[in-house]
Amino acid sequence: MTISSSSEYSNVVAAPNGKHLTQDASINSRGMLAKMGKLAKSWLKLAQVKRIDLDAAYAFDPEKPDFMPNLLPFAEHPLYVNASPEMKQRILSFGWLIYNWKTVEIEEKLISPICNKILHGDIPGQASASMSEVIGQTLVDEAYHILMVIKACEYTMAMRDLPRMNISSEFELVTSLQKEQARYLETWKHDMVQLAISIVSEVFISDYLTLLSNAHEIQPINRMVVTAHRRDEFRHSPIFKHIAQDAYANMNDEQKAFFCDVLPKPVRWFVSRELKVWRSVLEQLGFEGTDKLIDDTMEASRDELLRIDYSELITLAQEIGILDTAIGADSFHREGLIS
Ligand SMILES: [Fe+2]
Ligand SMILES: [Fe+2]
Repeated sequence: MTISSSSEYSNVVAAPNGKHLTQDASINSRGMLAKMGKLAKSWLKLAQVKRIDLDAAYAFDPEKPDFMPNLLPFAEHPLYVNASPEMKQRILSFGWLIYNWKTVEIEEKLISPICNKILHGDIPGQASASMSEVIGQTLVDEAYHILMVIKACEYTMAMRDLPRMNISSEFELVTSLQKEQARYLETWKHDMVQLAISIVSEVFISDYLTLLSNAHEIQPINRMVVTAHRRDEFRHSPIFKHIAQDAYANMNDEQKAFFCDVLPKPVRWFVSRELKVWRSVLEQLGFEGTDKLIDDTMEASRDELLRIDYSELITLAQEIGILDTAIGADSFHREGLIS
């Protein structure tokens, strides 16, 4: 990639696909770009890549659960509550594995594709040297997170002697994204849906990570992996807010209308308790009453929006002007995010 620059904030970037993207300093706020520049410079010092020794010996305490019981979607169901201690321990181990498998899906199918789209010039705006650098760094971070959680899964499976299961293609979060994209013929609409889910993801993922990284009752290595991930995601947060702001400011009217309509949709996809995955895991574990447990949990999970905090997404939509549009206000209302 070649970059010519007339000033720190005004660049013309030749993207790998040959497209030339002009950047308007009046659209890209100088403050945000300066922030991206600072983030790019601080990466080597703060990124968790290679800073965590995944092979270090951690005292494994077989009595400590691998996951927080109250994060199981059926934690209070009598069939789980009355299960044997051995079965409960295995289910908690799989709670940790499912959480990590889902993390891999998010990094691989939600975040990395949008970073690549940005680098190729397929997303409106985003053209500056500092932005290209932070996106490249984000790709490295996310690849490292995949390595971290894969190693964490292998460690847990070895210590608990768990069977290997292959269920990664069944996550509702990913199938919802794919179904939504399949509704449209235009590639740019697929890109907008991908942009929306990546922005929502980066808003939500940190909340969940914070919860687990403060859970001192779980295995120390599990908490360490989540804490390292949370540090990086905390650094990502302003990057994705900037991406949303800059992309929206540089969209044409048709793109803006489509993006306003689609942005709140992924919130409901994130709310999924991934009960299809759980059904498959429990069946493979030989859990008696799997169908009743899952069917009852599905029934009780109707209004799941109540259990999550999506206020940051509303604030972001307000800040970039989406809620000032009729389509934006309608879509956030339709999805139940605003009244
Ligand atoms: Fe990540
Ligand atoms: Fe991230």
